[in-house]
Amino acid sequence: MSGSQLSRLPLEIIIIILSQLSFRSLLSFGKTSRANYTYHILCMRHLHLAVFQKRIHALIAFLDIDSSWINCQSNIVEDSTLDRGHQIPIVLPQSTRGKEVIGCKSVLRRRSASSESRKQIRGNGNDDVPRSAPQTIRLQNEIFAKIVNRYGNSLVDLEFLAYDLNIQGATAIASNCQGRLRHLGLRFEHPHIRDSMLSRSYWLRPPEGSTAWNSLIGVGEQGKNIGLTRLESLVLERGSITPWQLCMLVKRNVKLRDIRLRNCSAVQPEFLNWLGGLEVDPEEPHKYEEVAPGASIQVFWLENCDSIRSERLGLLADKDDEKALEKGLEWVRALKSLKSISFRQCPNVDPDLVEKANETIWRLPEVVLPYPVKQYNSEPIEVDPDYV
Ligand SMILES: *[C@@H]1O[C@H](CO)[C@@H](O)[C@H](O)[C@H]1NC(C)=O
Ligand SMILES: *[C@@H]1O[C@H](CO)[C@@H](O)[C@H](O)[C@H]1NC(C)=O
Ligand SMILES: *[C@@H]1O[C@H](CO)[C@@H](O)[C@H](O)[C@H]1NC(C)=O
Repeated sequence: MSGSQLSRLPLEIIIIILSQLSFRSLLSFGKTSRANYTYHILCMRHLHLAVFQKRIHALIAFLDIDSSWINCQSNIVEDSTLDRGHQIPIVLPQSTRGKEVIGCKSVLRRRSASSESRKQIRGNGNDDVPRSAPQTIRLQNEIFAKIVNRYGNSLVDLEFLAYDLNIQGATAIASNCQGRLRHLGLRFEHPHIRDSMLSRSYWLRPPEGSTAWNSLIGVGEQGKNIGLTRLESLVLERGSITPWQLCMLVKRNVKLRDIRLRNCSAVQPEFLNWLGGLEVDPEEPHKYEEVAPGASIQVFWLENCDSIRSERLGLLADKDDEKALEKGLEWVRALKSLKSISFRQCPNVDPDLVEKANETIWRLPEVVLPYPVKQYNSEPIEVDPDYV
């Protein structure tokens, strides 16, 4: 189709046609003329950006999403994030000579680097000075922000895979994606990426709480008049967001139905009880009949979060005492629209108890247990007469 033919079509049709193109084809098309550049921006709806030092790291990060999905085997939740067409690996440029002074810490890391990367360092002489983690995070966010500044206004679905979010990245999202963005994924947990600059325990703990997240909820110096309000689904992995920041984000995005949090420091009783409409103030009685802030959430996945605690079913005096069963998980029953909940890999939640609580109280179509219920229990196995 020639350009003049294309421009005679209504804009909606042009967008439908161009939205079928792959990222690369759309980019090349955008380079052909000024008019086509405008079209290509309008058609950029989905972007999943993995920004890492090496291409292989970006590919590993995408693969990790797929494999965690396979482990879940959800049949309730469909996942649009698996569409590979939007997955764009981005490799950081080689670090430039003498740009940043390397501290003694980095020298140590450099020495402990794998032989392969040592070869690389030597091979490239002084040109390829290894970066530190904070430098890399800054670069990752710089590149991410550049792309979001260009396409943010058209984006419906955005994911960022990197080491962490900083204020630049957060502000780019919050100021450019107010219009259309429905799905946001921020994934900073990539335990299969081995980077010599990262300490061994890097993936094992969430980063420190950060004010960068304030931009997303439109508070703080940078956050005025910006922030997201139309999200329908949110994925945070190894996010340093605080319970308060997450409350605010959920509150502002009233259409949020799907929340998946993995290794997130915000998953604390403070957040969960707020979501379930339970008064934090102990003077106030719990009120279940009120509409909880989380009443319309359908999918709520809390994975690898160690602050959620349940009782242990085996230690309960009365296994049918609902109050005891629910202790620490009272908020679940207030989420009235819930279809799928996951406690996968939550170390302090007892799978037997979750199964029992679901059976007697929640009755949810899908419950993912923290880990499989033990097959060979040393305790005597109780036989439920109903099952015989
Ligand atoms: C881009 O647009 C121009 C006119 O604005 C047109 O001549 C050209 O064919 C278009 N490019 C492609 C690849 O369609
Ligand atoms: C995140 O995961 C690590 C390793 O599994 C764990 O030690 C840590 O406590 C988790 N953090 C939170 C906030 O759940
Ligand atoms: C939870 O309860 C529902 C309804 O009773 C049931 O269909 C489902 O299989 C249960 N899930 C688990 C993990 O026990």
